[in-house]
Amino acid sequence: MWQDYPELAKQLTTTLYLMEDVVKLKNKKVEHAVLEMIHAGGKLLRPAYQLLFAEFGPEQDQKKATSLAAAIEMLHTATLIHDDIVDDSTLRRGLPTIRSTFGNDTAVYAGDYLFICCFKLLSDYATSLRSLQLNSRSMEKILDGELGQMDDRYRTDQTIEDYLENISGKTAELFSLSCFAGAFESGSSERFAKKAGEIGHNIGIAFQIMDDLLDYQADAATLGKPVLEDVRQGVYSLPLIYALKKDPARLLPYLEKKDQMSDADTAAVQQLVIELGGAAFTQDLAADYTKKALKDIRKLPTNERGTKEKLERLTSQILTRRS
Ligand code: IPE
Ligand code: IPE
Ligand code: MG
Ligand code: MG
Ligand code: MG
Repeated sequence: MWQDYPELAKQLTTTLYLMEDVVKLKNKKVEHAVLEMIHAGGKLLRPAYQLLFAEFGPEQDQKKATSLAAAIEMLHTATLIHDDIVDDSTLRRGLPTIRSTFGNDTAVYAGDYLFICCFKLLSDYATSLRSLQLNSRSMEKILDGELGQMDDRYRTDQTIEDYLENISGKTAELFSLSCFAGAFESGSSERFAKKAGEIGHNIGIAFQIMDDLLDYQADAATLGKPVLEDVRQGVYSLPLIYALKKDPARLLPYLEKKDQMSDADTAAVQQLVIELGGAAFTQDLAADYTKKALKDIRKLPTNERGTKEKLERLTSQILTRRS
């Protein structure tokens, strides 16, 4: 994924080393679970955005930038381990999930420990208390989004606005924080950092919209996680919300089965979602949010490292991603 960004690729390798380095536990099972997840080959998008926005600031401290990138990725990794417990998921990054390999207890503790590591790194490297406050606030928003989604499970009257509110919290917030913190902690003005945060928000929304689309139209082998999971879990994401509005009568008989849906039922829902234009609408909305982000990225200052161009390229890639 990062071969076209050689400088960033090096920084991301350092970020992974730093993550590995903070993990030290007496309990070897939990330690092993955490390390396994760190080595499983996540895309590292959030640290990448953080590091790119750090290139705009007047203070260029690589150790600090990569340590903060490691903190953000540890927070992300923690949410994934816990998400797989909540979503009953069997596959992550092409491997069995931590909860399937080690059981729920170890998975809960592994996630907890990653939250702790995140704060350990932050308290060592963030220059202001403000970053810690913002990080806690972001964690709260992520949880709010996840809880909103849980409360909306199996709700067939969910609106696009409800959906957008949930994904703003559960996913866009961390992208926003990554971009904000990258800018702010490298000494950029608060005003610039806020703009970076806004860009990150739009990128994050586009990213989750694509994730929800891929749940309907990717294959598990390429995606590295199971497909058609959301509808099975009662999480009615954008493709289905749109299709439901178009033709509720055809979809409701399947959805009324709730957690008793068979594989044939989910396949029928998938077929209907595509036939009713849910996938096309979803792809278009992701493109709209990407366009918004790109418009703001193009207004960023140019520098000799070509940061702006890298941000443009990376952000466009999110729309065509298959994994
Ligand atoms: C998965 O995020 C969780 C969502 C917000 C959809 P990523 O797709 O960035 O996960 P990894 O880190 O690359 O595995
Ligand atoms: C994940 O959303 C968001 C968080 C981890 C907070 P999903 O449940 O859609 O993520 P995947 O599809 O399992 O990666
Ligand atoms: Mg989930
Ligand atoms: Mg999930
Ligand atoms: Mg998903």
